[in-house]
Order: sequence, then structure tokens, then C-alpha cells
Amino acid sequence: MKALIYGGPGKTTLEEHPDPVVLKETDAIVKIVKTTICGTDLHIIKGDVPTCTPGRILGHEGVGVVHAVGPAVTAFKTGDRVLISCITACSKCEYCKKGMYSHCAFGGWILGNTIDGTQAEYVRIPHADTSLYPIPQGVDEEALVMLSDILPTGFECGVLNAKVEPGCTLAIVGAGPVGLAALLTAQFYSPARTIMVDLDDNRLKVAKKFGATDTVNSMDGKAIEKVMLLTNGRGVDAAIEAVGVPATYSICEGIIAPGGNNIAVLGVHGVKVDLHLERLWSHNITLRTRLVDTVTTSMLLRTVQARRIDPMCLITHRFKFNDILQAYDTFSNAAANHALKVILEV
Ligand SMILES: NC(=O)c1ccc[n+]([C@@H]2O[C@H](COP(=O)([O-])OP(=O)(O)OC[C@H]3O[C@@H](n4cnc5c(N)ncnc54)[C@H](O)[C@@H]3O)[C@@H](O)[C@H]2O)c1
Ligand SMILES: [Zn+2]
Ligand SMILES: [Zn+2]
Repeated sequence: MKALIYGGPGKTTLEEHPDPVVLKETDAIVKIVKTTICGTDLHIIKGDVPTCTPGRILGHEGVGVVHAVGPAVTAFKTGDRVLISCITACSKCEYCKKGMYSHCAFGGWILGNTIDGTQAEYVRIPHADTSLYPIPQGVDEEALVMLSDILPTGFECGVLNAKVEPGCTLAIVGAGPVGLAALLTAQFYSPARTIMVDLDDNRLKVAKKFGATDTVNSMDGKAIEKVMLLTNGRGVDAAIEAVGVPATYSICEGIIAPGGNNIAVLGVHGVKVDLHLERLWSHNITLRTRLVDTVTTSMLLRTVQARRIDPMCLITHRFKFNDILQAYDTFSNAAANHALKVILEV
């Protein structure tokens, strides 16, 4: 089969690779129909993720058709159409029993990281019964690719952790696919105002279309002042950090209002940040972090099916799988190409 292989920092190739086979009785082999590229794949290619070693097939998102199952798989059979979760869950370990699939002792985020991933014609899914979701009839499969990772991440690590409530003022710092997924799913809770902060005017324009009430371009380093001005000096009730750099964490700290409020950090941070307790000690705030558990995937799927949210609006480009290197190029230069999510058709 054809697969996108990570060859070490800065290197990816589209190569012939042996098809995966069932290794454990709980495995399924899925023939990929559609997959996509995540910001995290770009982190890997930069060399930021040492657990992912050269030779690995990248990708942790996608939909497909079950091609083969191990003898212990009971929830799926050959021919079933499935959504692949970015998180593999054994359902039996201590963390899985707490619903913290992200830290599963025998899974977690392993796809396209420590085992071969979805940017290929076929993928092996361990613990298939609890790591795949059946695709209901009549749902657009392209939209569901957004459910493998970015929608549950925006919702669980952003909206739930920030405790978005009806009538609140919310700020989301970072209008990438994940920040925008937080914006879409925040609307379940009817915030009165949602202020979106980014450096890219195009993404801010998209955010307005997705329901942001205000946008702030932080290129001039004055995001805090601008958000304070927008909120009459009060600040926001909830702040979601959706970038992963110290500057955006600082913005969240600078704009959070006093009074039992939450900063939800969902960005993957590579370096330390300053925590200004000399100011925040009296602010009654909570700082929360999370690796996505994908415990809300079924719920989100129902909201997509009922057309309460439309993840299709996050898709900007489509490529044939054979053109995946071109797709990486487009996605890596997202600002120049006005790119959000790219769909690869296998
Ligand atoms: N916690 C989790 O489980 C989890 C899961 C998936 C992704 N992530 C992380 O979420 C983050 C967002 O993912 P994405 O795919 O949307 O990334 P992305 O790179 O596409 O988007 C980031 C956005 O941040 C903006 N930005 C960069 N620097 C900025 C600054 N100084 N001020 C304001 N905006 C700035 C960029 O213009 C861009 O629009 C990444 O760090 C990703 O690794 C976390
Ligand atoms: Zn991802
Ligand atoms: Zn487990």
C-alpha cells in the first residue's frame, strides 16, 4: 500500500509499505476512505515529538471501512463504515475506567505517534471495539473526519474545561482548526460574547462567520488592552488558549476577570510559561489543562447528525491521497493558502 512516512525532522515521503495485519485478537484493519493532516503532524515533522521515530506512518484522524477483525472484536465486522478516534482506549485499565482514555495504559495517543497511523491506504486499530465508532446512515463522512480529533479537543479541552456558561463572555486565543472547533461547540452553551484572538485576519474573518461576536488581531502585541477595552475593563469569564506558545498563555492570564473563572489551556506547549501569581492570587481563577479523551465523540456525532453544528465549514481544501505531499505543503503554509483542514481522499 501507499503511506506517508516520517523520515526524521523535515523529512516525509510517500512510499510503498507492507499492508498492516491483525497482530492481536482485539485489532481491526481499516481501509481508509478519508483522512486529514493535523497541526500535531507538523509538530512531529519539526522534530518536536520524540516519541514518534523515523519510519512511522503519520496521521491520527480518518474514516474508513473495516477490512478485517481479530477474533475478540465483537462490535464491528468486515464492511462496517467507521470513524477512527485519535485516542486508542483499552476500556479496562485504571485510566480508561475513569474515562481518561488519553492516558490509557495500553493506548492513548499512539496512532501516527508510536504505532503506524492513518495517512495510508490501511491502518491497524488496536482495541477496535472501544477506539472506533460506527458511522450512522446518511451522515457526511467528510464532516466526520473532524470528529477524530479537533471537535472533541475544542469541546473537551476548551469549552468544558473553560466552563462556558449561558450569557458569559468567552475569549478564544488561536483561530486555527482547534480554536474554531471550540468556537463552534461553545455555541451549545450560548455565551453572550465570544472574542476571537489571532494574528491572521483571514482566520478572524472565518471566526466571525462561525459566530464570534468580536475579533482581535494580536500582531501589534496589544491583545490584552484590546480585549479589556471590548469588555469595559472587566475582562472575560472564560479564556481558551488554543495555540501553545507563552505569548498566548500570557494573553489569557491578562484578560481573565476575577471571580471563579477559568483558563483552559489546550495548546501543546513546548517551553515554560510565566505564572503571575503576584497578580492572580486574589483573582479566584482556575487553570485547567487536558489531553483530549474523546469521551464526547458519540455526543458530538449526534449533534452533527442533527445539524446542530456543521464541521464541513472547517474544510477548505481537498486532495487525492497520491497528492499528500502537496496537501502538506498547502497545510504548512496555511495563512498564505487560507487553509484550515485539508481532506485526503484515499
Ligand atoms: N490538548 C490536546 O489534546 C490537543 C489536541 C489536538 C491539538 N492540540 C493543540 O492545539 C493547538 C491548536 O491546534 P491547531 O491545529 O488549531 O493549530 P494551528 O497551528 O493551525 O493554529 C494556531 C493558530 O494560532 C495562531 N497564533 C500563532 N501565534 C499566535 C499568537 N502569538 N497570538 C495569537 N494567535 C497566534 C495562528 O495564526 C493560528 O491561526 C496546537 O498547539 C495543537 O498541537 C491539542
Ligand atoms: Zn491532531
Ligand atoms: Zn485503557
